[in-house]
Amino acid sequence: QLKKTDAVPLLMNWLLGQESIVCSDPTTVAAKLRKMVVGGAGKTVVISDFDYTLSRFANGSGERLSTTHGVFDDNVMRLKPELGQKFVDLKNKYYPIEFCPKLTMEEKIPHMEKWWGTSHSLIVNEKFSKHTIQDFVRQSRIVFKDGAEDFIQSLDAHNIPLVIFSAGIGNIIEYFLEQKLGAIPRNTHFISNMILFDEDEKACAFSEPLIHTFCKNSSVIQKEAPFFHEINGRVNVILLGDSMGDIHMDVGVERDGPTLKVGYYNGSLDDTAALQHYKEVYDIVLIHDPTLNVAQKIVDVIN
Ligand code: TMP
Repeated sequence: QLKKTDAVPLLMNWLLGQESIVCSDPTTVAAKLRKMVVGGAGKTVVISDFDYTLSRFANGSGERLSTTHGVFDDNVMRLKPELGQKFVDLKNKYYPIEFCPKLTMEEKIPHMEKWWGTSHSLIVNEKFSKHTIQDFVRQSRIVFKDGAEDFIQSLDAHNIPLVIFSAGIGNIIEYFLEQKLGAIPRNTHFISNMILFDEDEKACAFSEPLIHTFCKNSSVIQKEAPFFHEINGRVNVILLGDSMGDIHMDVGVERDGPTLKVGYYNGSLDDTAALQHYKEVYDIVLIHDPTLNVAQKIVDVIN
């Protein structure tokens, strides 16, 4: 008689046979997968980044697609070039700092706080309306990875909570999901920066604490304690991320089960040091993968 865990060696063989998938320690990955399969859907939670993890990094011609904050760069540039340029200048200044291999995380943090703080002030000072922002999202260059819609729906169908943990803008993710899926699935929970609106539905502030790339950890999860308590018992975590800042997104979960860390590497193949770093911190590294296929296969063996 076939056991559910028999699917694990098959999945491992498939993973190890793919050129663009790196699994540095297959024994550990197989052991984590076995525990997750034994626990089943009822013991599982998925914690995922949004920008360039659930969304695509580049289109077919290699052009960079938009992050949630990037929705403002593109649309404001079209309507108010002077203000749009300010968002673009911020990105040109701070993006290289975010990924600079020579700076430590501690050195980067004040720059990230400045970037997020300035960008959010521009949004609040302009008093963008909810309606305008929804329109911006409709016209944006945010694109789901192939299979992302099915992945989110299948988690919902199997009652597996999906925590979208984003240093981007949560409202933009909500509008995007509503536009693509018709509604936000019941299983989906957001930990992100939320634009707060006044009674005229104009942007008036951002939620606290601020979440930037390098504080996606216990410092901001504390506020989410009631939610994590609610999913207490979901001891097995599938973590999906694309940056070094994503690897501690599971610290709010009270448990002793495994976290399977799946990392999307969007960087250059020539940057061997960066790629090596991903291989050390992520259990499975997916190189330039525009799909959610691997995450889906993992969930399929657990169900
Ligand atoms: P995350 O993918 O870890 O959630 O981080 C969000 C990304 O958003 C991060 O790579 C920096 C980027 N970003 C912009 O593109 N424009 C902005 O104005 C800000 C504040 C962040």
